[in-house]
Amino acid sequence: MTARTPSLKALDAIARLCARRWDYHYTRAKLRSDPVYGAVTEALQGSSLPVLDMGCGIGLLGHYLKACGHSVPVTGFDYDERKIRSARHMAAAAGHTDMSFSAGDARTNMPDFSGHVVILDILQFFTSEQQTSLLAAAAARVALGGRLIIRSTLRDDSWRFQVTVLGDHLAKLTRWMKASPTSYPDAEQIRRPLEQAGLSVSLRPLWGGTPFNNYLIIGQR
Ligand SMILES: C[S@@+](CC[C@H](N)C(=O)[O-])C[C@H]1O[C@@H](n2cnc3c(N)ncnc32)[C@H](O)[C@@H]1O
Repeated sequence: MTARTPSLKALDAIARLCARRWDYHYTRAKLRSDPVYGAVTEALQGSSLPVLDMGCGIGLLGHYLKACGHSVPVTGFDYDERKIRSARHMAAAAGHTDMSFSAGDARTNMPDFSGHVVILDILQFFTSEQQTSLLAAAAARVALGGRLIIRSTLRDDSWRFQVTVLGDHLAKLTRWMKASPTSYPDAEQIRRPLEQAGLSVSLRPLWGGTPFNNYLIIGQR
């Protein structure tokens, strides 16, 4: 399966699936500016395994993959029921019958799954012990030939890290996020449980045009 880069028109069409004005503006800006969706699409290229999107929010990754022509089943999981309702609404409005969403807490309730697992921007909401067990549970759901794809801020002494901490607190203040960040992992904290689960790990900065200290970490089975 070869992925194409979606046009701005295609990205705006995803935003128009949103029922709420706030979600529309968020989606439009996010899909146009965040390099993570293109990076995940690239990492999934050539595989038809299904995708589990942990902490899926309103399900933008699944729509982006479809817009790239990467048509695989996507299951989204998030503990924010409001976002899951929006995700279901958007999938139904787009007519995507192979996208499904359920509400639950990743700390206690990871769904059964086998395929690729994607974790974008949620590790900071967990304690470091919870991060380790979430990563182990996610790695256990990666099928042969599958990947665990993570985008996370990494804790280090850079100015980017300080800017990211501030941005996450603002997201809580504006009520976009239900919770404030709890603990930011460093690179070793992510690498160790993945390697222990038998994945080979690569890591690279994913800054794009942002000031945030984000990295893309891929564990391959
Ligand atoms: C920064 S948002 C990222 C949304 C999505 N991954 C994206 O890139 O568009 C983080 C998401 O993680 C979810 N989340 C945080 N803690 C969670 C938990 N314990 N279980 C499930 N989802 C959680 C939040 O509700 C939020 O939607």
